[in-house]
Amino acid sequence: MDITFLLNGETVTLRDPAPTETLLDHLREKRGLTGTKEGCNEGDCGACTVMVRDRDGPRALNACILFLPQLDGMSVTTVEGLAAPDGTPHPVQQAMVDHHGSQCGFCTPGFVVSMATAHRTGDADDDTTLAGNLCRCTGYAPIARAAEAARSAPVPDWLDTGTLPDPVASDRMPRSSDDLARLLEQTPDATLIAGATDVGLWVTKDLTTLSDPIFLAACADLKEIEVTDTTIRVGAMVTIERLMIALRDHQPDLAELLRRFGSTQVRNAATIGGNIANGSPIGDAPPALIALGATLHLRQGDTRREMPLEDFFLDYRKQDRRAGEFVEAVTLPRQPATLRCYKLSKRRDQDISAVCGAFNLVVEDGTVTRARIAFGGMAGTPKRARAVEACLTGQPYTEATVTAALPAFAEDFTPLSDMRASADYRLKTAQNMLLRHFAEHSGARTRIAEVAP
Ligand SMILES: Cc1cc2nc3c(=O)[nH]c(=O)nc-3n(C[C@H](O)[C@H](O)[C@H](O)COP(=O)(O)OP(=O)(O)OC[C@H]3O[C@@H](n4cnc5c(N)ncnc54)[C@H](O)[C@@H]3O)c2cc1C
Ligand code: FES
Ligand code: FES
Repeated sequence: MDITFLLNGETVTLRDPAPTETLLDHLREKRGLTGTKEGCNEGDCGACTVMVRDRDGPRALNACILFLPQLDGMSVTTVEGLAAPDGTPHPVQQAMVDHHGSQCGFCTPGFVVSMATAHRTGDADDDTTLAGNLCRCTGYAPIARAAEAARSAPVPDWLDTGTLPDPVASDRMPRSSDDLARLLEQTPDATLIAGATDVGLWVTKDLTTLSDPIFLAACADLKEIEVTDTTIRVGAMVTIERLMIALRDHQPDLAELLRRFGSTQVRNAATIGGNIANGSPIGDAPPALIALGATLHLRQGDTRREMPLEDFFLDYRKQDRRAGEFVEAVTLPRQPATLRCYKLSKRRDQDISAVCGAFNLVVEDGTVTRARIAFGGMAGTPKRARAVEACLTGQPYTEATVTAALPAFAEDFTPLSDMRASADYRLKTAQNMLLRHFAEHSGARTRIAEVAP
């Protein structure tokens, strides 16, 4: 499996690299580009942030959980590639100096690359674009001031604009879902790698050797989002970042939930197909999609089948997916923006949920006419709260109805205690989410960002 990409403007062609060699290891060990740092080696800290450009434009990614084949046909800029050839600093580098934003040499390169990427794409929401860059010395204020100061400077003309190389055709990197289907018929036990934000950790943390990896990054048709009058069909390889942007007009609360999914770097890699297929009980998208009544599309060879998303999750980490079958897409019905999502995690940004509740209630003339409620973190799978739904449906949406429905949570769920939360806490907070939904429905403002001091 050969690959080719631009690295700080120079063409790199690799003959048969180890398929799970990470970009971070490659940069530091084979290229001497040690500006890109290794902090956590699991996508959490942003010290390894690089700018990666493909035909859709530049984005920030974590090099520590990015395998080399995922870069085929792309362009990588590291912190060493930001300054001009004559040494003139990039505007964000100069602003970091001017505003004393450069504090320790470990986090600063990652911050600077995230800032340069946001500067280039025109994204001025620093709280969001920098949420994936951790500074443990609490020095965010000068960094934010530097980002603000650099904002009006033009994007430097020396920054990576070279023509992207043609990807090298390879047997482990299918170009379409048809190619993938054929390849999986021959190797049904292959490991599929989409964004590698889960799989990457199997390699960097569990030191697993993957059998027969197949990279989905080049499957163009799996990256499509198709909006009709009645449905939104999302291809399995659509990233969480793109899904978030696409849903802002349709289900803004789900878009806001996805804004708290990992960090910009994680969302730029993570895909919706990976989030569903890994079957985690604390994945953030499945509860919301189940509450919306989503349909999952699976494919094995030329055979396709579909099912309500909730039926896909059979038991803890056990999904209804056959050998050689893959997730092709998920379809959401278009409907009014009634969905409300509540993610409870120890940190607001860049954290996995302890409990994630999704409430899709239709209230007409004061009566609940339809209720679909689903939770993550409350069982071995993402799961509907059918007993709670039954208590609400057909009832006036009042405090009395809500109070009467609270005991039903214990019928629906027997949560576990783990390092994120105790069973009691989970049950209580899930009940509180229904109370919160009712409070919001009654006009109370409950969002941290909305509640004024
Ligand atoms: C720092 C960090 C923060 C995170 N924060 C969150 C968070 O806030 N919320 C959250 O829900 N998750 C979070 N995650 C987990 C992860 O990002 C998600 O589960 C993500 O959606 C996985 O997608 P991926 O494309 O990276 O999947 P991959 O890692 O490539 O694959 C995951 C699994 O799905 C399989 N797979 C992938 N695509 C397909 C397909 N089309 N068909 C069949 N199987 C497939 C793979 O074989 C593998 O088993 C975080 C991860 C990291 C590292
Ligand atoms: S080293 Fe921490 S995100 Fe990569
Ligand atoms: S800049 Fe490294 S800890 Fe703050």
